[in-house]
Amino acid sequence: MSDAPKKLHIKTYGCQMNVYDSERMAEALSRANMGTGGYELTDDPAQADMVLLNTCHIREKAAEKVYSDLGRLRPFKEANPDLKIGVAGCVAQAEGEEIMRRMPLVDLVVGSQNYHRLPDMVRATASGAHPVDTEFPVEDKFEHLPERPASGRPTAFLTVQEGCDKFCAFCVVPYTRGAEVSRPAARILTEARKLVEKGVREITLLGQNVNGYHGQGPDALGGGDWGLAQLVRALARIDGLERIRYTTSHPNDMDDKLIAAHGEEAKLMPYLHLPVQSGSDRILKAMNRKHTAEDYLRLIERIRAARPDMMLSGDFIAGFPGETDADHQATLDLIAAVGYGMAYSFKYSPRPGTPAADRAPVDAAVADARLQELQALITRQQRAAQEGMVGREVGVLFEKPGRLPGQWVGKSDYLHAVHATGEGLGQGVLARVRITASAPNSLAGERISA
Ligand code: 5AD
Ligand code: SF4
Repeated sequence: MSDAPKKLHIKTYGCQMNVYDSERMAEALSRANMGTGGYELTDDPAQADMVLLNTCHIREKAAEKVYSDLGRLRPFKEANPDLKIGVAGCVAQAEGEEIMRRMPLVDLVVGSQNYHRLPDMVRATASGAHPVDTEFPVEDKFEHLPERPASGRPTAFLTVQEGCDKFCAFCVVPYTRGAEVSRPAARILTEARKLVEKGVREITLLGQNVNGYHGQGPDALGGGDWGLAQLVRALARIDGLERIRYTTSHPNDMDDKLIAAHGEEAKLMPYLHLPVQSGSDRILKAMNRKHTAEDYLRLIERIRAARPDMMLSGDFIAGFPGETDADHQATLDLIAAVGYGMAYSFKYSPRPGTPAADRAPVDAAVADARLQELQALITRQQRAAQEGMVGREVGVLFEKPGRLPGQWVGKSDYLHAVHATGEGLGQGVLARVRITASAPNSLAGERISA
């Protein structure tokens, strides 16, 4: 038998939490963790001994894509009967064994809380078993996953909180990811320090409701219950960590301490994803958002008072059941009032098991037209925000070489992609850059000499 490592292909759908989870799964299945039975990653599914789909259930399109992608794997399985196919993530969590019934070519199904059990499940498939594990275990998967190796990248995600207790009427997350659970602060700080030792300069804290973070404080720092503001301030004390971001937040959990941290912690970046979903109070109520449009606008004012250059990003849903033209107009008005640097809009997609799924839908053509209107307004705002950067000086953390000689590409403090030239640029370098031009999806600039 050849000693060459087996190959693993992972396809990731959906949010950044899944991106993080995919990395952790790859580590759990690596040779470093599993010995000679372990896998190394390949980008090419045709080369793979195992294909894992890390799935998303947030909208119907994302969930159905998994089934069409599984169908596309059939010829690979026919060509190589030893090929193992696994489904992970939120579709796995929501549909469990149903996936194997619908797609008998699937060898294993693993829910989002059980990745630490993957190596055993993969070993079981070798003897023909078809394991399904979608329970919510009592143990913390992160404590049972191997330590993260150096990725070579200067940015990293770090999950601090999972699940959601908000139960917005349209959303499957409280069902697929379960109740809110926060990791203890000491474990997060340790993981962050190790990432920094491996060259990470920017950490994005992840959680479905990240600003609802309520973790146990480290004993050495007095214990107690820590909120996100305390966690951010402790992370900001780590030497070598230059930038902190967090996503995704709920307006009702944006407390005074967190707003104050934005004004006082220079490492906390001036970009905030703060979805509001609609600008109509009637629809916000029907969505079970528990805040009004006015509450949101006042909150933005307070955030901007603490950090005047804050760039805001949001999510909007077009065609939620019961939405009238006046409700839609209220959403357009809210977007105009906020002035987003970036925003995402989605057509409402009924999700089985959620309260809104049983309500009478808005006509599909009307919902499509509203979505286009939202997207057109958002695109105009994004462009204006990006063009407003020209002439300004911003911090840029460089990640990779650009296409032109001497050019490097990185992300600005406000998360714009920036192509820049100048002395001493390289991976992991954080430099001040003067923005000279705005292209459709990026900015160009020159390093300001130190
Ligand atoms: N239909 C459309 N969009 C949805 N989102 C969540 N659930 C649905 C749904 N059923 C959007 C929300 C959320 C983002 C991640 O996805 O805007 O903030
Ligand atoms: Fe879903 Fe976010 Fe609402 Fe939680 S707060 S239910 S994750 S949309």
